[in-house]
Amino acid sequence: MALGGLFSTDMAIDLGTANTLVYVKGKGVILNEPSVVAYHVKDGQKKVLAVGEDAKLMLGRTPGSIQAIRPMREGVIADFDVAEAMIKEFINKVHRRGFLSKPRIIVCVPHGATPVEKRAIRDSVLKAGASRAGLIAEPIAAAIGAGMPITDPTGNMVVDIGGGTTEVAVLSLGDIVYASSVRVGGDRMDDAIVSYLRRQHNLLIGESTAERIKTTIGTARMPDDGRGQSMQIRGRDLLNGVPKETEINQAQVAEALAEPVQQICEAVMTALEATPPDLAADIVDRGVMLTGGGALLGELDLALREQTGLAISVADESLNCVAMGTGKALEYEKQLRHVIEFDN
Ligand SMILES: Nc1ncnc2c1ncn2[C@@H]1O[C@H](COP(=O)(O)OP(=O)(O)OP(=O)(O)O)[C@@H](O)[C@H]1O
Ligand SMILES: [Mg+2]
Repeated sequence: MALGGLFSTDMAIDLGTANTLVYVKGKGVILNEPSVVAYHVKDGQKKVLAVGEDAKLMLGRTPGSIQAIRPMREGVIADFDVAEAMIKEFINKVHRRGFLSKPRIIVCVPHGATPVEKRAIRDSVLKAGASRAGLIAEPIAAAIGAGMPITDPTGNMVVDIGGGTTEVAVLSLGDIVYASSVRVGGDRMDDAIVSYLRRQHNLLIGESTAERIKTTIGTARMPDDGRGQSMQIRGRDLLNGVPKETEINQAQVAEALAEPVQQICEAVMTALEATPPDLAADIVDRGVMLTGGGALLGELDLALREQTGLAISVADESLNCVAMGTGKALEYEKQLRHVIEFDN
């Protein structure tokens, strides 16, 4: 029977705090959308209005009857029903592009996720239509996606800086030797910019404006000329309550971001100190790989190098590394079977 190009195949999902990516076996990453859901509450029931890109546009702009939320916090599910609806809708979008159900689905989970949190992720994927659910540790996926030789008998350090968390891991022989997760990532950087402007300039801005400042002129280091580039921003003047437009420069953003940047540096140093000496020596030789969206913060690699003395590289396509790595684990399942935990 002709299937008209439709087939059932396996998928890998990077269910991130900020973005969800879906990788289809043999095809690559075919969906990449913000992890945001907008819904209407009527008679106590949540009715989903939009997910992904469309829902993100509504964040911070909804009337009382509509809520736009991010169901993932710090890499794990914070709102189970909403997360499940989101996963279902993303899987449906993939199916509408010609991929039939019921796929086996592998999802990555933060190294520090509890058994209950892992169960929640598994259950929501199964309820969303998977035939089997597999889990893979996020740092392993990040390292595979960044092209690191994780199965070699050498120490490799990967630092995945996402929206919710920064995960630092040392890998050797295909497994985790040391891993830790700190609750500092892109969201914390956005918050730091919001509070800096409130404190120093009596200006109230929204989270999406803070994110735009970070991705446009954000930097982890004081600019050499003491000012750097600047941009115009708008917010509310807290002294008289009216909208105000002002200019912000890179020196101010660097000052605002100093604390989260410092916390990321400390996480790297702590990991290095906790790593057995031979593996630590490998890392000193080979350097550290940064993945995740936070790795794109201006001059973060330089700031980390200055503070840790280690060579730092930013992975190509750092935002896609975890999804690519989870996908590769599917493609090379025979070789990488030990890193995937299936439910049955
Ligand atoms: N150019 C940039 N400079 C600084 N930050 C950036 C840049 N581009 C994206 N980001 C930030 O990266 C974060 C998203 O990264 P990523 O998609 O890796 O997170 P995630 O996987 O959803 O989160 P987590 O892994 O914590 O669950 C957001 O906070 C976003 O603002
Ligand atoms: Mg991530």
